Amino acid sequence: MKSILIYSTLTGNTKKVAESIKEVMPENTDFISIDEAKNIENFDDYDFITIGYWVDRGTADKKTLEVLKNIKNKKIAFFFTLGAYPDSEHAQKCVDRFEELMKNNNNEVLGHFHCQGKIDPRLAEKFKNLPPDHPHAMNEERKKDMLKLQNIQMMKIFKKQKILFQKYFQIFKQKIIDYLIFNR
Ligand SMILES: Cc1cc2nc3c(=O)[nH]c(=O)nc-3n(C[C@H](O)[C@H](O)[C@H](O)COP(=O)(O)O)c2cc1C
Repeated sequence: MKSILIYSTLTGNTKKVAESIKEVMPENTDFISIDEAKNIENFDDYDFITIGYWVDRGTADKKTLEVLKNIKNKKIAFFFTLGAYPDSEHAQKCVDRFEELMKNNNNEVLGHFHCQGKIDPRLAEKFKNLPPDHPHAMNEERKKDMLKLQNIQMMKIFKKQKILFQKYFQIFKQKIIDYLIFNR
């Protein structure tokens, strides 16, 4: 049984999460960036594919969407990082959209994980002008959070987020382990 972990990252958040997830994958798991994945025409060699991406305008980033076209009839786990809160409606929509994309290619989703990434300060500047009800709006609370985010390692951001991370990561990990045990 062969598995592969593909990650797409612009500023490094998703790569950090990918590296943590790699630790719970079988030792022979291929670990590649999305740019390398673009050169793989079909994924027939792999039984299990984990794909990690960053959220770009409510969906997976363009490079990931491109690679997804070649992933069909597979067992999948996915994860992503985003700017919005992980328990927001926006984050849930991102999950739903990706699951829909997977179904369209007849892939079976075994699990997923998502968390907030450190926001690029240039992007945060732009967010300041958004209306308060926008998912990326910068209110006082978020500005403070931003400052923390710049200084603290991603997985230790907020107590709440840390708990969420642990909860979802455990589920994600367990699903992968279950799958590997039953498909040895
Ligand atoms: C062009 C662009 C579009 C983005 N769109 C969204 C979005 O729609 N929703 C969101 O929650 N975050 C959005 N973000 C924030 C990123 O998803 C977030 O910072 C992510 O952690 C970046 O991951 P990376 O460091 O692996 O590149 C956007 C960032 C950029 C640069």
